[in-house]
Amino acid sequence: MYIPEEIDKILFTEEEIKKRVSKMGETLTREYAGKNPLFLCVLRGATVFFSDLIRCIAAPLEIDFLRASSYIGSDSSGEVHLETSAIPDVLNRDIVLVEDIVDTARTLSLLTAEIKKRGASSLKTVALLDKPSRRVVKDFKADYTGFEIDDLFVVGYGLDYSQRFRNLPYIGVYKA
Ligand code: IMP
Ligand code: MG
Repeated sequence: MYIPEEIDKILFTEEEIKKRVSKMGETLTREYAGKNPLFLCVLRGATVFFSDLIRCIAAPLEIDFLRASSYIGSDSSGEVHLETSAIPDVLNRDIVLVEDIVDTARTLSLLTAEIKKRGASSLKTVALLDKPSRRVVKDFKADYTGFEIDDLFVVGYGLDYSQRFRNLPYIGVYKA
């Protein structure tokens, strides 16, 4: 197995992720049957999770993408960059916003506000990982979460350190 030397340890194996994502897919299938929701992927970190998740949903849905970024290296910059011109049309749609990880929650709370403002008929958030101890937007909680983790910087399965390691099939702790 390919384990770069910067990886301290594997936190979730490919198999563990697959099981959890499949469970989340079952839940979302029940929740959205007959609604034709629009699943929005937050680029770039959520892409791997997103592509696995939508294939675990056995009901009609549509997909689209939007871009947000805040991290520089392994430090949250505190400022979220959102390309508002590239936000898909959400008017009167049931939106499911899919993110890789909730950290300070600045990204998802900003996106949530923006999507509500643009007239979505409903909005739920899905995150594969959650680091509750890092929260800045205190009251924020994703509607569906894969795994809760401690205050660790993790990479793989879409998550990066300076654009690296997104291709690892597992989630590992980055060696600081
Ligand atoms: P938030 O706005 O602080 O919640 O940050 C969310 C974004 O920060 C995520 O979409 C990730 O791109 C990035 N992020 C937060 N924690 C990690 C991590 O442990 N590894 C890689 N990226 C992270
Ligand atoms: Mg991200």
